[in-house]
Amino acid sequence: MTACIVGWSHGKFGKLDGETSESLIVKAASEAIAHAGIEPKDVDVIYVGNMNGGFVRQEFHSSLPLQTHPDLRFKPSTRVENACATGSAAIHMGLNTLAAGKARFVLVVGVEKMTELNSAQAGEVLIKASYVAEEANIEAGFAGIFGKITSAYFQRYGDKSDALAKIAVKAHRNGAKNPYAHFQKEFAYEFCRTPSDKNPFVAGPLKRTDCSPVTDGAAAVILTDVGTALGMKQAIAFRAAEHVNDFLPMSRRDIIKFEGPQLAWQRALKSAHLDLLDLSFVESHDCFTSAELIEYEAMGLTAPGEGERAIHEGWVERDGKLPVNVSGGLKAKGHPVGATGVSMHVMTAMQLAGTAPEGLQLPKAKLGGVFNMGGAAVANYVSILEPLR
Ligand code: COA
Repeated sequence: MTACIVGWSHGKFGKLDGETSESLIVKAASEAIAHAGIEPKDVDVIYVGNMNGGFVRQEFHSSLPLQTHPDLRFKPSTRVENACATGSAAIHMGLNTLAAGKARFVLVVGVEKMTELNSAQAGEVLIKASYVAEEANIEAGFAGIFGKITSAYFQRYGDKSDALAKIAVKAHRNGAKNPYAHFQKEFAYEFCRTPSDKNPFVAGPLKRTDCSPVTDGAAAVILTDVGTALGMKQAIAFRAAEHVNDFLPMSRRDIIKFEGPQLAWQRALKSAHLDLLDLSFVESHDCFTSAELIEYEAMGLTAPGEGERAIHEGWVERDGKLPVNVSGGLKAKGHPVGATGVSMHVMTAMQLAGTAPEGLQLPKAKLGGVFNMGGAAVANYVSILEPLR
């Protein structure tokens, strides 16, 4: 255990008309600093997780947190980008900075303002997180990438549309209780399972209800060392933090094996001296329902090809043996790309501190896992968190 989250903030996710990435950053940063009970002058280093790539015209983001307070002027601040794992990448950079003894308090803000573009335009930006030389002509943006992965999975293991629909239903049932979520309503199984005008196919076997939405939002955390954290109001410790990158081209990998996520999970559990089922819950990267299905296998919950058991047998429901995405996940909470990894850590910290919103709080939340993924299983981050005391 080397570092802790000692303050956090989470804005409402959704289509946030009237907000800019600057306004979202300023709100998230000031609330996280206040929640930690520190002063802006105490922040030594700042990381901004932001993918952008054309979502907004303002590309250069690193100094925007300085708008929060004059005492942040002249602090070193860097924008971090690692596709959809950008938020976790920023947090892990903060952990490295603490481990190097270069800071006492690190502010990490994750932000994305996606809805200035329509879904098709957003897809054009998101497809840049594929191997452009071979994959950029796949239709339907990043959904097209996961459409191909899902088709390949169905070819090898059979049609799993029932399981995908159930994963969507679970996400929305959980998200309905999350005041921060983009969608706060339940979706019926028949609606998610059946193609319709309101739920058309988007790419391959994936329907609209299998996709995370295009979302605006921000979240922030304050990190510090364990010694400092012992004297603070709340402290959620990193028991493990692992990062594994795989080849970018899908053609160089057996893409439905998710070997990068698997290795990240194995390393994290080993360094934490834990088995998967020691965890009380997991926040996992369900950018598409099929991603969550394959992640059940990558984390070691089921054998390859048997991920559907985890949802059909209720293991991943909030009262199951390993609740997955109690927050509603990316599917219901939304997926503002640069904010997502930070959001996952905040949702986990809230659960472990016992301060998750009513209806969301799990009765026994002792150890939480976070899996955040950039690209198609390319940049893979696992964090395992527990209360410091
Ligand atoms: N899940 C469920 N409902 C959704 C939805 C989603 N992902 N996205 C939009 N909707 C709903 C809207 O709320 C709206 O409902 P309403 O008619 O009741 O108001 C309706 O569907 C139409 O919304 P619209 O934005 O016009 O849909 P769209 O067809 O343009 O976009 C997707 C839907 C799935 C194509 C879009 O959300 C998308 O591109 N998602 C993937 C984003 C992505 O790739 N992220 C990176 C992953 S790594």
